[in-house]
Amino acid sequence: MSTWYQQLSHQLEIDRDLGVQFIQRDTNVAAPVEQEDPDLSKQQPLPGLELSGSAAEQLETIATAVAACTRCGLCEKRKNSVPGEGHAEAELMFIGEGPGADEDRQGRPFVGAAGQLLDKMINAMGFERSDVYIANIVKCRPPGNRTPEEDEAAACMPWLEQQINIIQPKIICTLGNTPLRALSGNPKAGITRMRGKEFMWQDIPVIPTFHPSYLLRNAEAKKPCWEDLKLVVSKLGRELP
Ligand code: URA
Repeated sequence: MSTWYQQLSHQLEIDRDLGVQFIQRDTNVAAPVEQEDPDLSKQQPLPGLELSGSAAEQLETIATAVAACTRCGLCEKRKNSVPGEGHAEAELMFIGEGPGADEDRQGRPFVGAAGQLLDKMINAMGFERSDVYIANIVKCRPPGNRTPEEDEAAACMPWLEQQINIIQPKIICTLGNTPLRALSGNPKAGITRMRGKEFMWQDIPVIPTFHPSYLLRNAEAKKPCWEDLKLVVSKLGRELP
């Protein structure tokens, strides 16, 4: 049994890793993260994007624009861009890292081995894949499946911001380190410490959990991941199936 002091000290370490600047009374909820000022030289505005029509039509406009995007070097080697897919007004949005080889071939997110596990996770939560929206931090495959560079993530972020603003999910569930870092604004945040700790992106609650690829290699992480997914379901006011 750890003492209250050890528990508090552990919580403070987690908060510090998230970049928390002040402390709330409810220690299950991380205080709001100060978003770092974006580097505007990297975040050029999206060129002349006219968004109109239904949410689905607006997402389609973004997908078309993403297919022509040259905002970073990842466009050079892509077979297909992978804008994201799912329900245009989903209450739950999953955000992964970036497309792998299978996704690059098909132009769809999470269709490989990690995607099959993500589908099972979604079903276990009581959803169909078509009920949720699935996107990534970068829309083009990083060569050799390397982690996207910070400047690549920053260049791609305006697309994701537009998607989130259109979909207006009630909760975002991030998968792994890359989306945790991008949305928390803390490039040093680590998923092992931060999983299950809610923070806000703009006015939307974010619950970070492990990436399905990590779960495929580390079966012991499945149990804590399931705790995170159950938290998502309960925050949505739903029952498990
Ligand atoms: N891993 C990701 O992060 N995204 C995908 O779309 C596929 C695998």
